[in-house]
Amino acid sequence: MSQPITSKTALVGVMGWPLEHSLSPAMHNAAFAELGIDWAYLPLPVQPGAVEQALRGLMALNFVGTNVTVPHKQAVMRYMDELSDAAQITGAVNTVYIQDGKFIGSNTDPAGFLDSLREAGCHPRGMRVAVLGAGGAARAVVFALARAEADSVVVFNRTAQRAAFLVDDLADAFPDSRLSFEALTQKALAVLGSDVDLVVNTTSVGMYPHVDTCPWPEGVPIPANVLFYDLVYNPLETTFLARARAAGARAIDGLGMLVHQGALSLKMWTGHSAPVGVMRDACLRGLGIK
Ligand code: ATR
Repeated sequence: MSQPITSKTALVGVMGWPLEHSLSPAMHNAAFAELGIDWAYLPLPVQPGAVEQALRGLMALNFVGTNVTVPHKQAVMRYMDELSDAAQITGAVNTVYIQDGKFIGSNTDPAGFLDSLREAGCHPRGMRVAVLGAGGAARAVVFALARAEADSVVVFNRTAQRAAFLVDDLADAFPDSRLSFEALTQKALAVLGSDVDLVVNTTSVGMYPHVDTCPWPEGVPIPANVLFYDLVYNPLETTFLARARAAGARAIDGLGMLVHQGALSLKMWTGHSAPVGVMRDACLRGLGIK
């Protein structure tokens, strides 16, 4: 049962544009109800160009903080008074905490990704990893893997130059990590063969409504002894993961990362350990699965 919102209710939310499909309000409000705390999480649709006004508004309205999603994760950075390492190095903020008139920006995506891997029984230390994609999500994943001391990370991207920039940026922060890049082509992935332990898709390929598309080229066999992880969670079973499972490989869907990055934001704002099972169920209901 959710509680009534009153003048005492602590407020947080998610800033993004558009926000119709965000699962975060349902996920966090379910967690607050489970914890029995007087908090509410609101969708905050903010048009591009209105980020500064929106942040000042949240401070004036005594919000405790906000999540930040597409397309504002970079735009909010310049208004932050403090930035966590993860936010600074990935160049993105997904969680703002408003404290004593200051905006504190962090990025819980990398640690959320690692928590979801560990929950699935995967410990990336010493692993050889291939990351598909070089956008914002890839930056969070490569940062997390480098910090967790993966043996090596190769970033494959359709636009190879973008992968080169990503590797270049993160190499400064992790001079001891083996980071490299390749064009995302049939040939490059075929050469990879089974010299890899974990493949992570961070591209939007396969996401609803383009559910029949797959970031792994049709002509390249899927090695059975490799773990495949898709950040896409709508649909939960992407064509990529279905192909991996059909080839006998283990596969992890993207819901774990959504839940765990949310759990870390919730902990930052409230101080409470998040009920991740309840949050996962709320997301599944939001996706029409449960
Ligand atoms: P996000 O912040 O979610 O990572 P993004 O920054 O827009 O989103 O990045 C999207 C990623 O998906 C990029 O790596 C993009 O490749 P390009 O850099 O070449 O654009 C990748 N991507 C999107 N559509 C793709 C497609 N049809 N084939 C291959 N890669 C695709």
